[in-house]
Amino acid sequence: MDQELAGKVAIVTGGSGGIGRATVELFAEQGAKVVIADVETDRGTELADAIGPLAAFRRTDVADPDDVQALVGFTVGHFGGLHVMVNNAGVPSSFRRLLQNDLRDAQRVLAVNLFGVMYGCRFAGLHMAEHGGGSIINTTSMGALTGGSSPIVYRTSKAAVIQFNRSAASDLAEYGIRVNCVAPGHIATGITDYDLEPVIRLSQPLQRQGTPVDVAHAMLFLAGERSAQITGAVVPVDGGTSAGPSFVQTQLLLAQARDHGGGDAG
Ligand SMILES: NC(=O)c1ccc[n+]([C@@H]2O[C@H](COP(=O)([O-])OP(=O)(O)OC[C@H]3O[C@@H](n4cnc5c(N)ncnc54)[C@H](O)[C@@H]3O)[C@@H](O)[C@H]2O)c1
Repeated sequence: MDQELAGKVAIVTGGSGGIGRATVELFAEQGAKVVIADVETDRGTELADAIGPLAAFRRTDVADPDDVQALVGFTVGHFGGLHVMVNNAGVPSSFRRLLQNDLRDAQRVLAVNLFGVMYGCRFAGLHMAEHGGGSIINTTSMGALTGGSSPIVYRTSKAAVIQFNRSAASDLAEYGIRVNCVAPGHIATGITDYDLEPVIRLSQPLQRQGTPVDVAHAMLFLAGERSAQITGAVVPVDGGTSAGPSFVQTQLLLAQARDHGGGDAG
């Protein structure tokens, strides 16, 4: 099969670890030249060295617009263009409930998760608009597609990404720039530092552990020509969690409620 990204140049923010790393590896396998942009220099440099001349590392804090502008300039200078921008870097927020949460992390979480995406779209968009278009992919979260309390700041930042994604998609369409989101859920990475097994058993309809490669495949689809007619979309990669619990999971919850004397749950 032909390489799907042959001749393309891509940036992956948060590319040193987890989902970003899997995306860097898949894009390089599919023929793209990839710039890994991350604050984690050691892991990013090692990854670029392992891939070889198809990859380069650039230390970038996505919360800093000057860094993101310099990243795009570096990429165009190093690889001669920019066709795919993956705004994937993200950080978790406190799991504390609202009344126990001093919200001190809110500015940093919004700066990385939301403003980082906005800067990435703008600076990549400025280049793409002048050079025949491109594909931008933003990482939101299943936590923005479902209701629920904590992590409240994280959910808020990712929900804002979805609204920004729609606005950017309609605004940039005239330049041939497509803008889409992936929404991962329950993928084992550095950000999910808890036991995923019981969470999946109780809330994810597909009883299968999602991997960073699963998300990378959705990124590849949105990056390449097979998604040429898709913009402004949100693609969940969450084993169905945002679709709601399965029949068996609902029965399990009701049985637990009855065991705890919850009475007739209907
Ligand atoms: N793992 C999941 O289940 C899950 C679920 C929903 C959404 N996400 C989102 O997926 C994306 C990737 O996360 P992951 O699961 O691979 O976690 P991860 O922690 O393994 O990877 C995140 C990467 O982003 C980098 N990063 C953090 N702050 C940065 C900054 N200011 N500038 C540049 N890079 C920065 C980190 O160094 C790290 O390499 C994030 O946006 C995350 O919110 C993950």
